[in-house]
Amino acid sequence: MKKITLEIRPENKRSHINREIYGHFSEHLGRCIYNGLYVGEDSSVPNKNGVRKDVIEALKAIKIPVLRWPGGCFADEYHWKDGIGEKSGRKKMINTNWGHVVEDNSFGTHEFMDLCEELGCEPYIAGNLGSGTVSELAEWVEYMTFDGVSPMAELRRKNGREKPWRLKYLGIGNESWGCGGNMRPEYYADEYRRYQTFCKNFSGNELFKVACGPSANDYNWTEKLMPCLNEWNAKAISLHYYTIPTGDWSKKGDAVDFTDEEYYKTIKSTLYMEELVTRHSEIMSKTDPEGKIGLIVDEWGCWYDVEKGTNPGFLFQQNTMRDAIVAAINLNIFNEHSDRVVMANIAQAVNVLQAVILTEGEKMVLTPTYYVFKLYSGHQDSELVESVLNNETASSGDTEIPAVTKSVSIDKNGDMLITLANCSIDEDIAAEVSTGSFAASSASAEILCGEVHAYNGFDGKENVKSCAFDGITLSGNKLTFVMPKCSVIAIKLKK
Ligand code: AHR
Repeated sequence: MKKITLEIRPENKRSHINREIYGHFSEHLGRCIYNGLYVGEDSSVPNKNGVRKDVIEALKAIKIPVLRWPGGCFADEYHWKDGIGEKSGRKKMINTNWGHVVEDNSFGTHEFMDLCEELGCEPYIAGNLGSGTVSELAEWVEYMTFDGVSPMAELRRKNGREKPWRLKYLGIGNESWGCGGNMRPEYYADEYRRYQTFCKNFSGNELFKVACGPSANDYNWTEKLMPCLNEWNAKAISLHYYTIPTGDWSKKGDAVDFTDEEYYKTIKSTLYMEELVTRHSEIMSKTDPEGKIGLIVDEWGCWYDVEKGTNPGFLFQQNTMRDAIVAAINLNIFNEHSDRVVMANIAQAVNVLQAVILTEGEKMVLTPTYYVFKLYSGHQDSELVESVLNNETASSGDTEIPAVTKSVSIDKNGDMLITLANCSIDEDIAAEVSTGSFAASSASAEILCGEVHAYNGFDGKENVKSCAFDGITLSGNKLTFVMPKCSVIAIKLKK
């Protein structure tokens, strides 16, 4: 049996893992908002203010820290005033990006901000820079956050909300290099500076402004943008990168029906995130050596061909153990780069792309990806500690990958969390972990594993679900165990 070793150096605390790394994204796209999160007050599906109760509970259980909204590409066509006031009077629009369906604006600012309060998470608003106006965005901020007397604060009160909400995260445009306006970085940088000037901090609310960063490996965008930001209140730039198994957007591959080699290609394509984060961070360090401006990977995840028979504009796909491994890899990468990566948002929360939750009528399914977020939730707001992996490889055909991915943190109680994934779909792997100066009083673990094509459908059977893992032996400062093939393991060590 292949064997890996992991040496943990607990005294070497590297960086704080912001809980926002475990963030989510919800767009007016397909059935993410409507029928996913929101069914309306009159629905027979149990709901609170129109939001599905089962989804609220599921998201709370993984401690959702932040939710991005309303897009995506949708954000740059969204006019927030269409989504406030009496629902019957709200304007209808065409969702030109996603299936040309009618958007009735019944889920708007109040519904979203109240949902975030209910979930106990930070709202992250993506502002419309592409087709909106500066005053429109400035007024939106005023509407949401101003406590005094002003036209927008009065309008909010008229619509039933006396006190302002708290808004921290504000994105100034989405994919401004693409669906958000096809801009050049130099032009966008000036637009960013103009828009942000008029987005004010009201009533003690302090905005954390996010400038639109690069697509994948567009290093030129980061090179051009960064020197323009330092004095202009940007707390972070965004990065978007999706895992496409084939690397070909016109034929991305099926979510459920894939070969071993396609699996390993998917993993390889996911591991590219490491290079992207490293290289963009290096460029950022040239003008921001102290790391004051963070990197926010506010769209990531697997993107396959849509499920056959579903609306091509709705981006609905199933979610297998392959997706769980992809999530484990990405989250470990973000933890390991938490000196620069301050937030990440998987695309998307419900029914779209690599969703953590799928719904069909009254039914709700928790995907394998959901369980990875559950296993990793203990990393939120912990300190990353150094760990050195002596790895193995796994392969199929010409595609070879490192077999295991890892990250280790210590929380505020002094307990340690080790998260590992065995990405091999053929071989179990033995592991020996040394915890160095950390003397654990006890060890407990949870595991998610299954055949790589396994998924949870709507037939009521939970084929993939995390459970307790009792295969760990703790002896002094050593842990030994066998990682089953295609598995994600979270080990908690009490101090
Ligand atoms: O998540 C789907 C889409 O992918 C988003 O709307 C856009 O920002 C990205 O291209």
